[in-house]
Amino acid sequence: MPITTCIFDAYGTLFDVAAAARIAAAEPDFPRLKDTWPAVAEHWRLKQLQYTWLRAITGAHTDFWEVTQDGLDWALDRNGLGDDTALRARLLALYWELQPYPEVPAMLHALKGQGLNTAILSNGSPDMLNGAVQSAGIGNVLDDCLSVESVGIFKPDARVYDLVGTRFDCTPDQVLFVSSNGWDAAGASGYGFVTAWVNRAQEPVDRLPWTPAHILPDLTGIPGLAAA
Ligand code: LAC
Repeated sequence: MPITTCIFDAYGTLFDVAAAARIAAAEPDFPRLKDTWPAVAEHWRLKQLQYTWLRAITGAHTDFWEVTQDGLDWALDRNGLGDDTALRARLLALYWELQPYPEVPAMLHALKGQGLNTAILSNGSPDMLNGAVQSAGIGNVLDDCLSVESVGIFKPDARVYDLVGTRFDCTPDQVLFVSSNGWDAAGASGYGFVTAWVNRAQEPVDRLPWTPAHILPDLTGIPGLAAA
């Protein structure tokens, strides 16, 4: 079936999750972050995601803003920065206005020019996603922002992926699902979406029962893939 609908993961795929720590590290108020910011960013993301999986498995759902804060608290402690409340507040504020990757606006414009549906499908809570989309200025090239909050469980639960067919009245094989998270691309492949894993860091493929249909170095190839 031809692709009618392009669905994007948000954090790490459209928005650069390392940007918060990188930007704060360049500010004069946070000299202790200068050398540690890559570790803080990595630990923050790792714990944030682990907490989503553990909460989904155990049925202990809370929203993504809470797991984002919990992950940051662990990461700051882990890097000896747990006492810096000003840093914590600054990093959390930056998370609401994460930079999009540079190719994002042109890529979404191209998809809309091809007449395709475009939307985000994210663990993010609706207000977080709204903040990021507004700050990136891409609201006019997205038809919707679908949040897991409407089903109360995180990815890769199938109820999350079900939101796409319900919203756009399409079958899974008409959907190109794009994620930089290997586990999300794998889960979406298992669900039946055509998937593109954006592998900016040239990481190995996740050892899971499902593999992405396409692997791209960034988002520039997505309009071509959707048209093929
Ligand atoms: C999201 C996370 C997984 O946006 O990056 O859903």
